[in-house]
Amino acid sequence: MTDRYAVIGNPISHSKSPMIHTLFAEQTGQDISYEAIEAPLDGFAATIERLRLEGYKGCNVTVPFKFNAFSCTTELSDRALAAQAVNTLGFEGRDILGDNTDGAGLVRDIEQNIDVTLKDKRVLLMGAGGAACGVVLPLLTAGAALTIANRTRDKAIELAKKFPDAAGGSYDELAGRVFDVVINATSAGLSDSQVALPSGIFAKDALAYDMMYGRETPFMTFARQQGARVADGSGMLVEQAAEAFYIWRGVRPDTAPVIAQLRTPQ
Ligand code: ATR
Repeated sequence: MTDRYAVIGNPISHSKSPMIHTLFAEQTGQDISYEAIEAPLDGFAATIERLRLEGYKGCNVTVPFKFNAFSCTTELSDRALAAQAVNTLGFEGRDILGDNTDGAGLVRDIEQNIDVTLKDKRVLLMGAGGAACGVVLPLLTAGAALTIANRTRDKAIELAKKFPDAAGGSYDELAGRVFDVVINATSAGLSDSQVALPSGIFAKDALAYDMMYGRETPFMTFARQQGARVADGSGMLVEQAAEAFYIWRGVRPDTAPVIAQLRTPQ
């Protein structure tokens, strides 16, 4: 019997997850189906209950439901707990297991695909919203020396306070400091606005990583001008999916051909 999975969001028509999981399934010979489901903005819990009763094995959760998904679980992984958000659900009988694979996907893309080791590196995380929260614990677990900066300074300080090894502040306070890896987890790129980073922030051979994919953001352009290596979030997207696939199926797909396909202009 084909095991059923889905991604739930609103809107959802743009989602690449069905394509990614279908490629993983073909590659690994797993008998699964994977569809995109748009839940009403006030109907996430009801959608989850319907899928569970219909025998789905699990689902991914995307914007704007990652916090709702956190609340509807019966069990949470440490990384979901740290993120206070869930992007992967597993249905086992009456239990709903919640995990968050976003940070693992980011770390894996940086370390395995881009070949930058995070241990003891000076890492700047820009942003303190949902996207940033999801990746703090995995970055610290990888050994990064982490600074979190945010336009609204208090939010960066609040987020950093939850982790003994992270520091938080505003962008102004970064003047004179240098980082090996700078990760943009803000939504500024969506409106083509530039986050006011001081120049000289990138160390020699630094990596500038934008968690957004499919567009050149002002952050990426700025980083290129400053001489940094630049990556977008397409590798992270595929790696977080691979981690979810592994949780559900116990098999780790080869992500390289899927990332290549995602980057091929349609
Ligand atoms: P997401 O789930 O994508 O993280 P969010 O929770 O709304 O969305 O958080 C958006 C993040 O992008 C926040 O850190 C926000 O900064 P503020 O907390 O100061 O609002 C940041 N952000 C959005 N637009 C920005 C801009 N133009 N310049 C700097 N930061 C911006």
